[in-house]
Formats: sequence, C-alpha cells, structure tokens
Amino acid sequence: MAVALSPATSTLRLIKPFSATALALRRLYIFHRPKPTLSISLPTFSSISSFTAALPLSRRTFCSLIPSAISSGEATKTETLEKKVGEFRKKIKILDIKGGPDEGLNLLGETVVVKGWVRTLRVQSSVTFIEVNDGSCLSNMQCVMRSDAEGYDQVESGLISTGASAWIQGTIVRSQGSKQKIELKVEKLITIGKSDPSFPIQKKRVSREFLRTKAHLRPRTNTFGAVARVRNALAYATHRFFQENGFVWISSPIVTASDCEGAGEQFCVTTLVPTSREAGDSPVNAIPKTEDGLIDWSQDFFGKPAFLTVSGQLNAEAYATALTDVYTFGPTFRAENSNTSRHLAEFWMIEPELAFADLDDDMACAAAYLQYVVEYVLENCKEDMDFFNTWIEKGIIKRLSDVVEKNFVQLTYTDAVELLVNAKKKFEFPVQWGCDLQSEHERYITEEEFGGCPVIIRDYPKEIKAFYMRQNNDGKTVAAMDMLVPRVGELIGGSQREERLDHLEERLDELKLNKESYWWYLDLRRYGSVPHAGFGLGFERLVQFATGIENIRDAIPFPRTPGSAEF
Ligand code: 4AD
Ligand code: MG
Repeated sequence: MAVALSPATSTLRLIKPFSATALALRRLYIFHRPKPTLSISLPTFSSISSFTAALPLSRRTFCSLIPSAISSGEATKTETLEKKVGEFRKKIKILDIKGGPDEGLNLLGETVVVKGWVRTLRVQSSVTFIEVNDGSCLSNMQCVMRSDAEGYDQVESGLISTGASAWIQGTIVRSQGSKQKIELKVEKLITIGKSDPSFPIQKKRVSREFLRTKAHLRPRTNTFGAVARVRNALAYATHRFFQENGFVWISSPIVTASDCEGAGEQFCVTTLVPTSREAGDSPVNAIPKTEDGLIDWSQDFFGKPAFLTVSGQLNAEAYATALTDVYTFGPTFRAENSNTSRHLAEFWMIEPELAFADLDDDMACAAAYLQYVVEYVLENCKEDMDFFNTWIEKGIIKRLSDVVEKNFVQLTYTDAVELLVNAKKKFEFPVQWGCDLQSEHERYITEEEFGGCPVIIRDYPKEIKAFYMRQNNDGKTVAAMDMLVPRVGELIGGSQREERLDHLEERLDELKLNKESYWWYLDLRRYGSVPHAGFGLGFERLVQFATGIENIRDAIPFPRTPGSAEF
C-alpha cells in the first residue's frame, strides 16, 4: 500500500558539524526552536481560592480535621490568611508563608498555624528551636519556643521529638539567624503524633542504600522530598505540554494479551495460581492442566494467558488513527532481570503517538517535549533545583539550561558505530555494525563525544528493533530513533510505524510472531492506514536526568526491582 506523505513539517534543519574531525562522519541536525516563550508559574493560591469558592460545600470543607481543642483561640489574622489559601484546604503551608519573593517578610506580625513533622529539636537554656517541615517546600519553619509558651511541658517531657507531628501556632517575626528571613515565635504547641525514639531518620546523614530500606519514611528527608516535588512538576509539565499541543490523553490497558516489544519480558496475570491468602500452602498440582500436561489457560480468568503491559503503544496507535495526536502516561512493567541503576520492573512511561507524521516529526516532538519539561522545572522548582545543584550533582542547573537552549545532535546508527569504532576509549563490549548499543556506548557518545548534549541516533538495523518499526528503503534499517542523554543513556525510544499491511505481515512472519494475536493491530493498516510515529520516554529516567539522582530506585517512591517488592 502506498501512502503519500506530505513534506515533513518538522523543524529539523542541517547545521555545520562543530569539529573538524566530525566533518566527514557526522550528519548533524539541529532542532531549531523559537526562543523560549514559556512564562509558566504554578497556579497561584488566590486562583485556587477563587476556584474552590464555586465548589459545593462538601468539597470545600472535606479537609477540616483540626480537633476543636486545637482550633480554639486561633487569631482572626490566621483566619484571614487561611481564607486566602483556599477554604477547602483549611491549612496554611510553609510554602504559602515562605514561598513569596520576600520569603515571608510580608507577613511579619501575622499569627499563623504550621502543621508538619519535626525535623530537629534543639533545647537551649532560654529557648528551644524546633525545625518543622510539611513537605510543601524544602525549607523548614524554624519555630522558636520560650518556656512560658503554652505546651512547653511537651518539650520538657520529651513528648515532642524528631519525627513527631505537631500543630504550632505563633507569630511571624524577623529571624535572628542568617539561614532564613523569618521564623515563628511559638505561642502554642500541640504534639499530634509522638515519635518513637527508634525513628530512623535522625539528623546525621544516612546513605541512600539505607534509605531504600526505609522507603516509607524517606520522603521525610530533604532529598526525597525534593525528588517527589520535581517528579510531580515533571508530570504536570508533561500533561501541559501535550494538552497545549492538541494531544488527547489515552488510558492504555495495564493488563494485555499482546507483547508490544516482542521481547518476552512480561509478568503473567493469572488466577490459576492461588491468591495471596492461599499462597503460603498451595500445591503445584492445583494448577489446572490439559490432557497433554500443559497449563489449561482456558480455565484462567481471561480464558487465555494475560500479562502486565510493557508499553501502551499498540493501543495508542489505535487512538492516534482516530484522534490524530494522542499520548499515554501510565505504569508499565518489565520482567527483565536487569539489576542496574537505570532499570525498574515497574516504571511509568509517556508515549505520544502522532498520525500523519514521520520520523522527523517524531524527533522534533521529542526534542520540544524534553526542552519544555526541563525548562518548566528550572522555572518552577528553583529551591529544589538549587538543592540538587549543591548536594546531588554540581552543575546540574547549567547542564539543564544547556539542554533548553542548545541544539540536539542527530546522527545515524551507522555513523554512531563508526564513531565508536574510531573512539580512543576501550569499551567492555566491542562495537560492530549490527550490535545493540550498550549503556557505556550511549553515555560515551552523549557525554564525551558531544559534551553533554542530548543525541538522537536514528535508522537502526532492523534485527535489533521491534517488529512494528517502518522499514527503510535500504532493506537493512528501520526508521527508529533513540534519544541519549548524559548520565542516563537512553531516555527515549521511538520510531515511525510500519503502516503498510503487507510489509508488517511479512515482518511478523519473519520474526515468527503469532499474526492472529495481532489481528486488531493489523486492522489499523486495513482501514484507513496513515503514516504515523511515536516514542516512549521512561519517566523515572527523566526524573534521574532532571535531578541528578544516580540510581533509578531513588527516582520513584516505591521501587520494584528483581528480588524486591517491599512496601
Ligand atoms: O525503548 P522502549 O522499550 O520503547 C518502547 O517501549 C516503545 N513501545 C515506545 C514507543 O515507541 N511508544 O522503552 C521506552 C523507554 C526507554 O527509552 C527507557 O527510557 C524506558 O522506556 N525504559 C525503562 N525505564 C526504566 N526501567 C526499565 N526497565 C525500562 N525499560 C525501558
Ligand atoms: Mg529502547
């Protein structure tokens, strides 16, 4: 089937290679991007407040959980500030107080209530310093308590300690210390939940390996609080980017009978083996068998083998060939036994799918998306990004700013292999045309060869790529692309899809894949097929890239890896 593709409207164009030695080898393109026009700021609280004012009362008040004993005696100024914050929430967060341009100085003299968890407590002869954090920002509220304040007995008795949750009312005053502009002069303290002395996150620094064994408590550290906020900002920016560009969000199924990548790395979903309540003492021969001694899948819940999805792409293609531009953003699962700092068994993937589009359009979209979300966190997560810049990866802000401003490099797989073969570096895995690029190769290309610039490699040998990729005219390669970034390696994998029915059927046969099980996917080529393309981005790898966090297990709240599904 022949489908005429109108000239690509992509924003790719040729640039001069930037080193003399590169001249012969590299065909570089830049993604020419209009000067950033982003002027994004998080929704202001006043806008939230005007929005919630219109909500029915039940929603506005669902969060009023302060016992009457606590709320008695709150000053009217606090109420005024609470109103500003938005009635449904009924609480002021530390970010509301300290997050403005003058870091809280505009609120001097106001009475407020802070609710959070005690990070540290220092009892001195005349005053006690209680650092409280509520997760709304990196900053703690320094609460200064004199012995005549109400509730001081809780300090004396040791009831309030690191890890405890507290309700603290006080007046905002100018801070004597240099670390913050304002602090809270405590008038009244109530310990909401005391903390056992065994609380494992005390002031001294602990390793990230140790914190992985405390994944339920690690969000109470600076690092994991900051990672959670930046992850949230990346998710928000992701939806914003696609929504602003006319994409429709699709929920692709989590349970599926197809193996999108054809790599056989799926977790089986079955009711043939016992449920969790019976799992302890269940005999193997309870699994139903056919006369031939094989598992009788017809008795399984779905009447056939079903799995957790490795990718929502095939389903996204169905919707792209109806709604034109769509994206998925959901969990995906891979039972690959890779114990590396870049692999998870459960991770989130963002998969846009564009109809009437080719590989150039796909690459342009990937570059624009990455630049958008990175710019978004630089603009909106300044405090957390400064933290990462100081403590996690020195220079990360500069590195990310370069990603936003500079052009991405593009080269073919064939050129990449030649570049690696000629590299001075000795690799653990030798390179030759046809081999899959390893992490060491990918990182060498982006980190050393192109100085930290994201690199897109295109046109891979068809043998090392999935069945659905469009075959190039050379008969050897497919219209695939991988985007490589420093520290992480492959961040994005995508391709133009094979939209020609005969070519696709031929490829399924070549790979001995079961054509019948792809019947509905083939139908998309039977009824109004169009050139289309898409990509998948591993969300946790994006979090790694944007925070400098080295191990992917620290980029997701509760990591699932081989041998580990705690929490
Ligand atoms: O390259 P992959 O396997 O591509 C696909 O799944 C396509 N169906 C995507 C598409 O075209 N719609 O995976 C896409 C991305 C990778 O580039 C990587 O960032 C991430 O998903 N990824 C993983 N992230 C964490 N842990 C793993 N085990 C991952 N496997 C892939
Ligand atoms: Mg890939």
